[in-house]
Amino acid sequence: MPTLGTLEVSRQGFGCMGLSHTYGRAEDAESIRTIRHAIDLGITLIDTANVYGRGHNEELVGQAIAGRRHEIVLASKFGIVPQDTQGDRRVNNEIAYLRDELDGSLKRLKVDHIDLYYVHRIDPTVAIEDTIGELVRQKEAGKIGAIGLSEASAETIRRAHAVHPIAALQSELSLWTREIEAEILPTVRALGIGFVAYSPLGRGFLAGSVIDDPDDRRHHHPRFHAEALAANEQRRASLARIADRLGASIAQVSLAWVLAKGTVPIPGTRHIAHLDANWAANDLVLDPQTIEELDAAFPVGSTVGERYPAQSAATVR
Ligand SMILES: NC(=O)c1ccc[n+]([C@@H]2O[C@H](COP(=O)([O-])OP(=O)(O)OC[C@H]3O[C@@H](n4cnc5c(N)ncnc54)[C@H](OP(=O)(O)O)[C@@H]3O)[C@@H](O)[C@H]2O)c1
Repeated sequence: MPTLGTLEVSRQGFGCMGLSHTYGRAEDAESIRTIRHAIDLGITLIDTANVYGRGHNEELVGQAIAGRRHEIVLASKFGIVPQDTQGDRRVNNEIAYLRDELDGSLKRLKVDHIDLYYVHRIDPTVAIEDTIGELVRQKEAGKIGAIGLSEASAETIRRAHAVHPIAALQSELSLWTREIEAEILPTVRALGIGFVAYSPLGRGFLAGSVIDDPDDRRHHHPRFHAEALAANEQRRASLARIADRLGASIAQVSLAWVLAKGTVPIPGTRHIAHLDANWAANDLVLDPQTIEELDAAFPVGSTVGERYPAQSAATVR
């Protein structure tokens, strides 16, 4: 079983963001069934954030885990401001904001303790030492168990870890987003910090998702613009060839690759059938030659298009 600091978690977690209409519409009743099915499978790491659906996602998770709280490691985050609440301000790590957001998350999740609480984005106007200091106080008060960071630089990770052990870094890692392999992954490994890979299916691109909802957020992501997609699809053809050879789906090969990097992926899906297929990727062990082949098919930095729209890109490392 992988560990994030002292927290033992399942090999894959479940990312709940897409259950709040991020990538097409989702039905709450089906979403609750899907989260409960994830727990039935043995998935213990359930990932949400205050900002997903502006509280909707945490409320949904709260309903889904009712009566099953003891079976899971519950992770949430603060630090990204829902766009309509503070004008243009996208990131806020101020102490008063942290306290309010944590209390709001506990209320929406209907719990008195969050096992792993992340700083979702690093606020350049607040010293990371002050943020971690406050999180330590919240830990001592029993409101959170472990502290995590998301999208932090190597320097920020080291500074934060010097104040208090960081259990996990959650950043983007998938075949088409490999930038963290150079400096960030070695840094967390050296410090004994767990790595949680978000968007491990490339927001659906590496699973063959079809985008057919005009409100789908991926329309705003440069990588999903028509020209970029056309270029990126050429690389996906290599993935499909490898998947055919292995008798697996492209989503499963993509997840097996992320698992092979020694990380804990948290794929998201609205569909139980997709969840079952993704979980089965745990049994797909890629040999070193296949990993090399995949690495060569998706060289670092070769993906066409930025991973975030300009406004969000300004908030990541
Ligand atoms: N820390 C951060 O800043 C950050 C940022 C982004 C995400 N996250 C976390 O990471 C989690 C996962 O990331 P993500 O949701 O962005 O992307 P993802 O897991 O890479 O991809 C999700 C997409 O893949 C599709 N999909 C999943 N399994 C599939 C399968 N077997 N076959 C076909 N399609 C499949 C889903 O569609 P269907 O619903 O149709 O299956 C959905 O559109 C989020 O839920 C969230 O918890 C964190």
